[in-house]
Amino acid sequence: MMFKPKKLLAATALFAGLLSAPAFALPHVVILATGGTIAGTGATSTTTIGYTAAKLGVDKMIESVPELKQVADVRGEQVAQIASESMTNEVWLKLAKRVNQLLAQKDVDGIVITHGTDTIEETAYFLNLVVKSKKPVVVVGSMRPATAISADGPINLYNAVTLAGSKEAIGKGVLVSLNDQINAAREVTKSNTSTADTFRTPDLGFLGYMQDNKPHFYRMSTRKNTADTEFDVSKLDKLPRVDVVYGYANMDRVAMDADIAAGAKGIVQAGVGDGSIAAQMMPAFRDARKQGVVMVRSSRVGSGIVARNGEANDDKEDLVVSDTLNAQKARILLMLALTKTNDTKDIQRMFYTY
Ligand code: DGL
Repeated sequence: MMFKPKKLLAATALFAGLLSAPAFALPHVVILATGGTIAGTGATSTTTIGYTAAKLGVDKMIESVPELKQVADVRGEQVAQIASESMTNEVWLKLAKRVNQLLAQKDVDGIVITHGTDTIEETAYFLNLVVKSKKPVVVVGSMRPATAISADGPINLYNAVTLAGSKEAIGKGVLVSLNDQINAAREVTKSNTSTADTFRTPDLGFLGYMQDNKPHFYRMSTRKNTADTEFDVSKLDKLPRVDVVYGYANMDRVAMDADIAAGAKGIVQAGVGDGSIAAQMMPAFRDARKQGVVMVRSSRVGSGIVARNGEANDDKEDLVVSDTLNAQKARILLMLALTKTNDTKDIQRMFYTY
């Protein structure tokens, strides 16, 4: 059977096209940089504390890990350049809006956010509640500056970009990945001031591992997040003031009264034990409720459920409990809740939902 010239030409062109196409198209990942130690530099290669965070720009960070280009078509944007103890609601809102803009684009498959580790858990949980997409969002940092021997930033960044470009991470909510582990934004917390294995998920454990250039998931968070959220910050340029009051023996109401006088619309108490309220603090809670301030009982303990009507009569005092959210995360959920309602029953529903 002789091939006719036209068919032969078409067949050749098709074959040549197949040869030139990449074995597979790399995912498109955008890195949004905010600063932190992962962008930090120290005076010497052995400086692992006392360095300066937030020095290297996002393009420098991408250049310093050429292997990124093997796993993703990657580009970067500098959203902020701060040490994360200085994170603000304004940066959160700017970041959230940019993430949602990018994820709405067909040519963006996932997002990595480089961030200081001090408040990584807060930014990650905030995004977990306001990102309107199931596409992967991975927040990453490092515990050693870029200039240190065995800096953990490069491998953490490589793993984060790999994870953000993976199909496995779709629909898992916002993830925090350092130290070859994958944690859920809702439960992860910084557990050590300075070691590389600082990010833990108390009691419940992390979701899986980054190993052999791919994610290995074994669990996922059960609470609503990202695309299923009821919160929308697209039209907000500020968030309601919510403060955390730390509980301890012999505390008094001065700090709480000052927060409310400064305009707090909500207070989260990081209470002792199961979110207990000291007898001397009860009048302050009642006065706050009379002023319409929403009061949430959380705990300073670090794990476990703060249950309704356990250490306080929440029904009678019209209080909200944080369930398993620590105080800094309960503050974030309460801030977003107050953008929609100050009805304590509806807010309690939100604490059982997210
Ligand atoms: N200043 C801290 C921060 O930016 C450094 C800790 C870190 O990024 O690892 O969060």
